[in-house]
Amino acid sequence: MDVEVPSFDTPVVSGSHTEVCVIGAGIAGVSIAHELVRRGADVIVVDDGPIAGGETARTSAHVSNALDDRFHWLESRHGTEAARIAAQSHAAAIDLIEDNAAMIGLDCEFARIDGWLVPASDRDHGELERELAAAIRCGVAVEKLDSPFPFHRGAALRFRDQARFQPVAYVRGLAAAIIAQGGQIHCGLHVDAIEPGRPLGVRLRGGGVIWAKHVVDATNATITSMVRFPIRQAPYRTYVIAIEIAPGSTLDALLWDTADPYHYVRLAGDRLIVGGEDHRTGHGSDPSYHWNALEEWTRQRYPETGEVVARWSGQCMEPADGLAFIGKNPDLEGVYVVTGDSGNGLTHATIGSMIIPALIEGRDHPYAALYDPGRSTLRSVSTIVREALSSNYPYLDWIGRGDVTDPVDIARGEGAVIRRGVHLIAAYRDPHGVLHECSARCPHLSGVVSWNAAEKTWDCPCHGSRFDPLGRVLNPPAVSDLPAAPAHDEKPQPTEPRTPTERRPRHVR
Ligand code: FES
Repeated sequence: MDVEVPSFDTPVVSGSHTEVCVIGAGIAGVSIAHELVRRGADVIVVDDGPIAGGETARTSAHVSNALDDRFHWLESRHGTEAARIAAQSHAAAIDLIEDNAAMIGLDCEFARIDGWLVPASDRDHGELERELAAAIRCGVAVEKLDSPFPFHRGAALRFRDQARFQPVAYVRGLAAAIIAQGGQIHCGLHVDAIEPGRPLGVRLRGGGVIWAKHVVDATNATITSMVRFPIRQAPYRTYVIAIEIAPGSTLDALLWDTADPYHYVRLAGDRLIVGGEDHRTGHGSDPSYHWNALEEWTRQRYPETGEVVARWSGQCMEPADGLAFIGKNPDLEGVYVVTGDSGNGLTHATIGSMIIPALIEGRDHPYAALYDPGRSTLRSVSTIVREALSSNYPYLDWIGRGDVTDPVDIARGEGAVIRRGVHLIAAYRDPHGVLHECSARCPHLSGVVSWNAAEKTWDCPCHGSRFDPLGRVLNPPAVSDLPAAPAHDEKPQPTEPRTPTERRPRHVR
């Protein structure tokens, strides 16, 4: 059945009171709001972009309880019982997505399929054995079989009851159900700050306020904790291509390998969705390099593929101990968070819709302790230190020369960082040739942003804040735009680029 999706661009009445205000209309925020409304709560959802317009639209939609961080690694950090609960919670999330889609009568192409973990090389068979043993200890339905993929001879692990679906269609369906049951969703509203108190004040850009007894921060990287989560999770970019493939020429299954970074593949009709090439945000090469590497990897294994029809990239938040942070924000009374997707964002978000409504109702939940945002991450201190070094290394950019020395070297539709005295400028030349400048200083904790040529955004390599080409904030933890460029008395910049952008590589690993 088709779902009629209402417009979400209606303005909220400033001074509105609600029981719960959910910030973020991606899969996490909308799933949590849907569950709350279903239980009779009064809910307002706000987002500064469209429904499911952030990372939800960029996922490759592997829905799996075979966790990215592998069960043997999770066991080593958290113990077998905790890893078992993690597996159980992600399986429950898959069930809930299936149930929600059926309850609403939603055609979001949900299908149960197998997931296959294949070794990237002969040397990785030990890794396969370790993961098989750990997954069995964690109660996962897994078996070692001969690989069904022609490009890989030998053993592989088959995980039963995984799934795929269309997350944007699913989230829009849930959003329509929220409206039908009396909830409110308002897009185009940017939240500047949460004012502590009872009720909490959700301060909107432009001066409005929503008063709420509880606030759910479902903004992906959180806007309600400037330090706690940014130092416990690290932002990674990942790349995806969609490539034509003859119908029936490959298995309808999820596939991922043991490479580091690993590759992940699924079928979507007559297209193969292939992802991988992950790297710390702001540390990668030209995105064409990553997309071309994915294409080459794909053609070597799937010779029957045709044209590449789409390419995009997304951002994952990798928590140091491999588990999302879902529950009460220890830094702000009355606020709940869901962050740290760890490459399993669709299921982590859905687990949020089980835990957070229970906590808001004053009840405990069997998964709450595992994902407690206030938990100790001391067992993962080596990962925190390693990622902190990566987060802080980009501060050296403050003494660097920038990407280019002259704005004429910036091609149309591209951006680059330029040094001007003690200042670093984020300069973007629009498709008409007009140069736009703002400060390259990230308003979160003063990292230097770098140009993301794949998504045409400014990305902060420190903790993952992202900004559009004109410096408007897209992703937290920053909540405000890039500052205005400092005034200077140099003559106006020419509007025509000299050549395509030439830049020095920064932090290429
Ligand atoms: Fe933290 Fe930019 S995201 S300094």
